[in-house]
Amino acid sequence: MRLAGKKIVLGLTGGVACYKIAELTRSLGKAGATVQVVMTQAATQFITPVTMQAISGNTVFTDQWDARIHNNMPHIDLTRDADAIVIAPCSTNFMFKLAHGACDDLLSTLCIARPAHIPLLIAPAMNVEMWQNPATQRNVAQLKADNIRVMGPAAGDQACGETGMGRMLEPAQLLTEIIASFQAKSLAGKRLLITAGPTFEPIDPVRGITNLSSGKMGYAIAEAAWEAGAQVTLISGPTALAQPYGVQRIEVQTAQQMYDAVMTSLNTKSQDAFVAVAAVADWRVANASNQKIKKTCDSDTPQLEFAQNPDILALVAALPDAPYCVGFAAESENLLQYGAAKRAKKNIPLLVGNIGHQTFGKDDNELILFDVHGHQALGRADKKTLAGKLVSEIASRIKK
Ligand code: C5P
Repeated sequence: MRLAGKKIVLGLTGGVACYKIAELTRSLGKAGATVQVVMTQAATQFITPVTMQAISGNTVFTDQWDARIHNNMPHIDLTRDADAIVIAPCSTNFMFKLAHGACDDLLSTLCIARPAHIPLLIAPAMNVEMWQNPATQRNVAQLKADNIRVMGPAAGDQACGETGMGRMLEPAQLLTEIIASFQAKSLAGKRLLITAGPTFEPIDPVRGITNLSSGKMGYAIAEAAWEAGAQVTLISGPTALAQPYGVQRIEVQTAQQMYDAVMTSLNTKSQDAFVAVAAVADWRVANASNQKIKKTCDSDTPQLEFAQNPDILALVAALPDAPYCVGFAAESENLLQYGAAKRAKKNIPLLVGNIGHQTFGKDDNELILFDVHGHQALGRADKKTLAGKLVSEIASRIKK
């Protein structure tokens, strides 16, 4: 319920992408928001006010002369208790109207009459040529300069049959953007490098050694850091998780590949913090076979030899210009004692401890922070809530 108590005025303008707004409305409601739908006449050609009323649970407004508002001023009354106005889809024409301050229908009048403290977010949706047109691009630049949040668009197949920039973001991505718009930008202008998930160390082309890490905690931290305004690079071992919106993901398999990807990222762009959440294999199979190892007789067992993997976190922490390093410790017992010892051994300012078998694959977790002053429990919560708390902690420590 990350939008609990929020009122969103959701404006629809003319575009095929209107059909996706039914789903966005439902997901805004599920996240706890109250949704007040306002539609232009063109939008009603693509989806009916009946559908939008049924899904939002609120009367839909389309007309600036609507007498259902007691003072007959829907362009004022509909936004006074709103927390945000979202225009999705936002047509080429509506972007032009917003950029120039037009007010010739209810939705455009409502936007220009909004109090300055109410954020306006738009999700452009149009044909690739319309998007690329210099007039449209001038309007986009003006909207950004006016502090209007432009969400997307994305590139891809379009309803008209052409391909390119101009697709509206998917409803789940818009929901992420809207939730993020309410978060404090504690990491604005900062770059975070995060490792997540397990690693997979091959034994032969079809077998390998891995662990039970699902990647959920690392991915939740990547999402929370993006919501807080950071540029996030996520280096991920094999997981079943989708790429987090807004985050650059680099997929790797082995610990050596993860190390190489971390070092390449650090060499390409300086990073403000390195958060090592991945459950990295300590050893790899030194004599991995290029071909599948065959079972030749019942008494036969392969003789595996092991070599140590690079300790990515310790090596990053030892760099002369090391970013602020945060490590994780997944222990099975004695967390307080092992956590403090691990922080000291790795020589890092912050270590986050948890009990491995109580968290791997689960949606909730219990974290303990270890720093030079001692330890502090963040308590049991779902991983997304904990990720938000941890990101605030990292932000305040980077600023010091
Ligand atoms: O040494 P240990 O595996 O217990 O330390 C855990 C922490 O170190 C985690 O933050 C993990 O991501 C990181 N680590 C690493 N490279 C390794 C082993 C662990 O970055 N080879």
